[in-house]
Order: sequence, then structure tokens, then C-alpha cells
Amino acid sequence: MCGIVGYIGGRSALPVLMDGLKRLEYRGYDSAGVAYINGNGIEIKKTKGRIEDLRKILPLPAPEAKIGVGHTRWATHGAPSDRNAHPHVCGGIVVVHNGIIENYRDLKTRLASEGHEFASDTDTEVIPRLISSHMQKGLPFEDAIKKTLSDLRGSYALGIMSQECPEKLYAVRNGSPLIIGVGLDEFFFASDIPAFLQFTKKFIFLEDGQMCIMSRGQARLEPLEPAGSSKSMGVVIPGKTGVEDGPKVVEIDWTPEMAEKEGYDYFMLKEIYEQPGTVRDTMREWLDNPVTMLDSLGITPKMILGLTRLHIAACGTSYHAALVAKYIIEALAHMPVDVEIASEFRHREQLIEKNNLFISITQSGETADTLAAQREASKKGAFTLTICNVVGSTASREADSVLYTRAGPEIGVASTKAFTAQLAALCLIAIVLGMKRGRLIAAEAETLISQLRKMPLLIEKALACEQQTMEIADRIKGSRSMLYLGRGINYPIALEGALKLKEISYIHAEGYPAGEMKHGPIALIESGLPVVVVAPMNNLFEKTLSNIEEVKARGGRVIVITDEPLGLRAMADEVIEVPPAHTALSPFLNVIPLQLLAFWSGVLNGNDVDKPRNLAKSVTVE
Ligand code: AGP
Repeated sequence: MCGIVGYIGGRSALPVLMDGLKRLEYRGYDSAGVAYINGNGIEIKKTKGRIEDLRKILPLPAPEAKIGVGHTRWATHGAPSDRNAHPHVCGGIVVVHNGIIENYRDLKTRLASEGHEFASDTDTEVIPRLISSHMQKGLPFEDAIKKTLSDLRGSYALGIMSQECPEKLYAVRNGSPLIIGVGLDEFFFASDIPAFLQFTKKFIFLEDGQMCIMSRGQARLEPLEPAGSSKSMGVVIPGKTGVEDGPKVVEIDWTPEMAEKEGYDYFMLKEIYEQPGTVRDTMREWLDNPVTMLDSLGITPKMILGLTRLHIAACGTSYHAALVAKYIIEALAHMPVDVEIASEFRHREQLIEKNNLFISITQSGETADTLAAQREASKKGAFTLTICNVVGSTASREADSVLYTRAGPEIGVASTKAFTAQLAALCLIAIVLGMKRGRLIAAEAETLISQLRKMPLLIEKALACEQQTMEIADRIKGSRSMLYLGRGINYPIALEGALKLKEISYIHAEGYPAGEMKHGPIALIESGLPVVVVAPMNNLFEKTLSNIEEVKARGGRVIVITDEPLGLRAMADEVIEVPPAHTALSPFLNVIPLQLLAFWSGVLNGNDVDKPRNLAKSVTVE
């Protein structure tokens, strides 16, 4: 939930760091700071606010510095402020940190007893002070770092440098994402790929418990073992292959532009419009021969034969995808599916047996609660599959198997294209599982597969409602609250629509099963209250019509999403039409107008749609 960057090489470090921070600002934007080493030793510039606020306090022209670190913060300990902004420093040792040090209070007490006077309220500040303290007790710098890391409990991705050795840059990973960018004669570190894509496409994904020591000519990976050990895990020499056991250098096929806005005013709108392509990309490798999918994921026919239950855990929008999956998998594969919010799943007695399959769904692959749930399931002996969007993320490396969504970098804090990519992956799993379990005959499977092939085109058509959603958003923008209703497989879509509206427009909204209206929420209906109803033509259409009538009879303002507009135009205040589709695939289309309605409500309410208040793209803390 913070973004850290670092650079060592031949370029002027400050512009590189600032460019990297700008591209990571979606990870947190409460405060920002940089530190660099030049002829005057270490210089630190930091401030509450955004990257642009930091830019205002930087020296011009950029100082001659070839090494530096940077940080953009999402506050966890200590309010957003100048003093709590990173980097933090002690004795010429500078640290930037993403994560939470759980035992920082004890460490702070210990350091204070040694005479340390803390300059901030953060947990992070204990780190440079501990390193300095260990050095004062005689440990060399690298050993002092390792000793400090053995003192820490919690999650961290760290960037460390010291003015005593300005030719080295340290990056450490334990529980928070951290990647190393490999240039020609330069190295970068960052919390996420978009930071330095314009400089390199080659990355090393650090594992938990690894430290990378970078100098201009090489990067050395070491395990975090007690001070004094230095078992190298291999060296990367830019431009040359690493040593035999050298760390794996992954070439990412994202272009810098993919991580840019490409002409849209907001990443969120760009990503909504990318959905036809990202759904297509996610299905591409499976559609021609879907039956190979589960085998290639390590889910063997023998496992499927013994499979008795699926467990799916996720958070937020990914949880809504999991709810949709329950309807589809139970309908097509007749397999019981338990879906849980990850933060609930991990803290209760989970009834998981060895012959269960556990699926985590996570765009970032770094959501703390989802990772914890996945680890719990693994401990109980379940086979763990993660549906994830980020190559090399923690979830993707800890699960027994990974099904990557191919949505590309999702920069907007509100998840849109990742959601429909998750639906695509889950639909394929449901179809193949149904076939393997003899519950879905080949003809039915082929019908669904052929509809999936057409889905990108159908999503394109659904996107044509944008102008209408903007006009509706203008009419509802002053609303204090809204209701979203849906039945069956579209109940999770009502939940997703409500979440999108809340997190982007700050209008309170609640998703509800339409059949539950009479059990309480109908008391909320009053004149002019906007109620969005997802009402596709299916076996639940008539019952949903009754709900619409109940709302209208009490003065509510009904906005209907449907593939059957004729019967509704006289009844509803607004009718947004989407193309017809098989019920199991209707969520792909019904969610599109809800994403656009939320987007335009946010814009018309004057919000920063890509960086909504209080939110961050990846919730890597519990
Ligand atoms: C979605 O719009 C939200 N930003 C949030 O609920 C998100 O879906 C949730 O934090 C889960 O993130 P993940 O998919 O990266 O695990």
C-alpha cells in the first residue's frame, strides 16, 4: 500500500526516482519523499501530499547524484505529515519501507533506552536506527542490516543506502512486493512493474527473505540469514547471462504505454474500455482446447474425481467475482462451492479437507487477507489455485498453481478490467470442471465456449451506453444514497455496482438480493431514491419486475439494466440496454453500465477517480 523505488547507475538519479514514483502513486498518496547521495553526502526531501508537492521542493537543476531511493506513502502508523513521510534516516543510513513492522513499539522502547530520539510516529523509523545501533556495536553495514532484519517482525519491502558506502544500494523483501529492474549498466528497484518500464523490461522478482545488493556493475542476491553468512544466490551481470544458479530474470511484455493512460483522462476509463481485449487475452490460451486447462494447472483427473468441495476466498471486487463463480460452477459442474470474504475465512475454523480445492482470487496478488487465507488452506492440505493478475506476485508464487488473468497493469484503484478477466477465468474453470465431471454435455459446453468467444464483441456493444450513463450520473449526482438490486447470478453484480459507486463517487450505496427487498430495505424507498435494478430476461425476470413495481409505487427512481428493454420502458425511469447473453455469462455485460455509472458519478462529483480518498490499489496490510 506504499510505493518504493530506488536507482543506481549512470543517470541522474532524481529524475529517474521521481518518474518512478509518479507511476506508483496509485499505491498510496498521503506523502512522498526522496533521498540521494551526492558530493554533500545524503540529501533528503520529503513532504505531506502528492508527488507534485514533492517536486516543488526539489532543487533545480537536479543535483549530480547517481544513487537514490524514493517513497510514496499510504499511512498505516502515523498520520500523513512531513515528519512521517519517508525516507527515514539515522547516522547517514536511509530507509524507505512498504509494509508494517508489528513489533516496532518494543524496538522503539529499546532504542529510546539507548538514547535514540525519534523524529516521527512511524514504525519504519526503527529500521535505520537499529542498523545504526548495530553498527555502533561493531557490526559491518551489511551484517548490521541482516541483524536488524532478524529483529523485525511484520511485512516489509525495504530500500536501504548509506552515505558511508555510496556505491551500493540494498533492496530487501519480506511479505511486501519488490522487484529489481535490470538495465544495461544500472539497476532499479520498485514495488511494482510500471515504475521503470520505460527504462527496462527485465525484472527479478525478489522472494520473501531475499536481499539484493546492487552496484553499477552487478546485483547480488542473498538469503536473509543471521549476520555473517553470505551464501550468494547468484549474481546478475547486466547484458550477460547470470551465473548458473543466478536469479531468474523475467522479461515483461508490458509496454510503458500499457501503463500509461493512452489518451484517456483517467486510468479507470481506459481500463473499462480495455475489457474486450483483456477478456479475450485471458481466454486466448484455453478457448481452442479448454479440456487441457485444468490438467495444465495441475488439477488432474484423479484430483477431480476425488473433489468434493471448492472453497473460494477473496476481498472486495474479487470477492464479487467469487460469488458469481459459485452460481456458475454449481450450475455447470454441480460442485458445492463455499465463497468467503478472505478476512473472515482466515480467522475461523475452516472445514477444509485434503480432497478440497481452494481458489484465491486477487488482482494484485498481494492482498494480505487473501494471502493469509490461501496459506491457511494450504496448511490444511488443500490444493491451492490462485487467479491472479500480477506475474511474480506473492499469491502467484505461494499457491500450488496459478491461473493468470491477462488484464495488464490495472492502475485505477477501482477494479474493473481485472473483474471481468476474473469472470472469464472462472467461467472456463466451471465449463471444464462440468465436462470432466460428466455434468456438462459437449454440446452445451460448445455453446458456452462459442458465446465466450463472442464476449469481447458483446462487451464492445455494452460499452455504447457510456453517454447514457453520463446523463444518468448527472441526474443522480446529488443523491445521498442508492440501492442496487439483482437476483441469482446478478446479485453479485448488484453488490459490485454498489461498491464501484461508493468507492468512486462517495455516494452511499447498498447491493441487495432483489427478493430481500420486502425483508427490510423497502423501508428505505422514498421519493426520488435512485434504485438500480439488474433485470436480464431470464427465469427471474418476472419476479424482478415485481420488485421494480414495488419501488415505483413508493416513489423510487428506477434505473434498469436489461437485455429486454421493451417491457420496461413504460415502467422504469431509465433503461440501459445491454446485449443478450446466456445467463451464466450475463454478468460480463451487466457490470459494464454499472462501472460507467460509477465512473461518471465520480467525475461529476469532482473526485479523483483514479485515486479515491482513503483507498489504495493494493491492501497489503491486515
Ligand atoms: C475494488 O474496486 C477495490 N479497489 C477493492 O475492493 C479490491 O477489489 C480488493 O482490495 C481486492 O484486491 P485484490 O483483487 O488485489 O486482492
